[in-house]
Amino acid sequence: MVVYHGSIGSWLVHWLSRYNVKILGISLNPSSKLSLFKFINKKKLIDKRFDITDLNQLEKNILKFKPDLIYHLAAQSLVKKSIRNPLETLKTNIIGTANILNSINKLNKKTTSVIITSDKCYQNLKLLRGYHENDRLGGHDPYSASKASAEIVFKSYFNSILKKNKKIRIATARAGNVIGGGDWSSDRLVPDCVKAWALNKKVYIRSPNSTRPWQHVLEPLSGYIALSYHLQKNIKFNGNSFNFGPKLNEVATVKKVLQISHKYWNKAQFKIYKENFFKEDQLLKLNSSKANKHLKWKKVLNLEKTLELTMSWYKKFYQNDIKVNELIDNDINYYIKLKKSIFNA
Ligand SMILES: NC(=O)c1ccc[n+]([C@@H]2O[C@H](COP(=O)([O-])OP(=O)(O)OC[C@H]3O[C@@H](n4cnc5c(N)ncnc54)[C@H](O)[C@@H]3O)[C@@H](O)[C@H]2O)c1
Repeated sequence: MVVYHGSIGSWLVHWLSRYNVKILGISLNPSSKLSLFKFINKKKLIDKRFDITDLNQLEKNILKFKPDLIYHLAAQSLVKKSIRNPLETLKTNIIGTANILNSINKLNKKTTSVIITSDKCYQNLKLLRGYHENDRLGGHDPYSASKASAEIVFKSYFNSILKKNKKIRIATARAGNVIGGGDWSSDRLVPDCVKAWALNKKVYIRSPNSTRPWQHVLEPLSGYIALSYHLQKNIKFNGNSFNFGPKLNEVATVKKVLQISHKYWNKAQFKIYKENFFKEDQLLKLNSSKANKHLKWKKVLNLEKTLELTMSWYKKFYQNDIKVNELIDNDINYYIKLKKSIFNA
C-alpha cells in the first residue's frame, strides 16, 4: 500500500494502521513547524522523503514495494502558493501524477489506485446545481488548472495505456473543501482561524461570502476507501471519476463557518480585508450523487458537527488536554460508529 501523507494523508495513515497492512508513504519534508504527521501512528509505515517528479526514485520505490492499493494524495495543494509559484505546482500536480500513472503501469501485479484531484478541477460557471463528473474541466488559477490537467492526463493514460493492462483498477476522486484537526497550512480558513485564535489574535478574512462544500476529513477518506473497495469488486468503475462532497443544501459561506466556529473560542475575532492578490470563485458546489448511488457513500456529519469536532480537536490540542494520537483516534472511533460500514458492500 502506498499513501502520500500531508494533512489528509496523515489521517489516512493513522486510520489504516489499525489494520493488517504495510504502508509506504512518500512525501517531501513538512513545510510548517507543526505537522499532524509528527503525532500519528507510524508503526506500519515506511516513511520515504523525495520528490514525485523524480521518476527514477518513484518507480524504484513503487516497484520494490509492490503495493496492492495506492492512494495518490501528494500535491502542491494551496491556491495562493500556486499563484506565487506556478511552475512548482504544475510540475508536481501534473508531471508528478503522470509519473505515478507510469509507475503503476510498470507494476506487474494486481493494483487498485485512487488518484485524488480536487473539486477545483471544474471550470467554475457558478452552477447552482453543483458540478457533475462529466462537466467541463477548467481552472482560473494554477492550482485549479493543475488539477484539471491531472484529470486530463489521467483520462488519456487510462484510455490509451492503462485500460489494456488487466491487472490495473484505477479511478480519480474529486473532494470538496476538507476540514478537521491537525491541518496547519497557510491561507486555508480553518487553520488560519485556529492559529490566530489560539494566540488571542484577530484573523483576517478575504471572502466572507464565498460558498464552499466543507466536509470533515474523514468523509472524503471514507469515500476513497469505499472507491478502492468497489473498484476491486466491479470493473465498471475502472477509469471513472467520483465527486465527494456535502449535499447541495449543506454548502455554506465562509461567514457561516466563522459564526459557528467562533463559539468554541473565547476571544475569536475576525476582520474582513480586500484581497487584491487573486480573485476567488464565489460559489463552488459539487454533486456527489454518483458516489451516493454507486458506492453507497454518504456524508454523515452536518456542518455544525463537522465544526464541533474540528474546533474541539484544536482547542484540546492547544490546551494540551490529551495526547494528539488519542484526539485522532477519538474522531475516527466516533466516525466509524456513525458510519457503521465504510465499504457499504
Ligand atoms: N485540503 C483540502 O481541502 C483538499 C480539497 C480537495 C482536494 N485536496 C487534495 O487532496 C490531496 C491532499 O491534500 P492535503 O490537504 O493533505 O495537502 P497537504 O498540502 O497537507 O499535503 C500534501 C502532501 O504532498 C506532499 N508533496 C507535495 N509536493 C510533493 C512532491 N513534489 N513530491 C512528493 N510529495 C509532495 C507533501 O509533502 C505533503 O505530504 C491533494 O491532492 C489536494 O490537492 C485537498
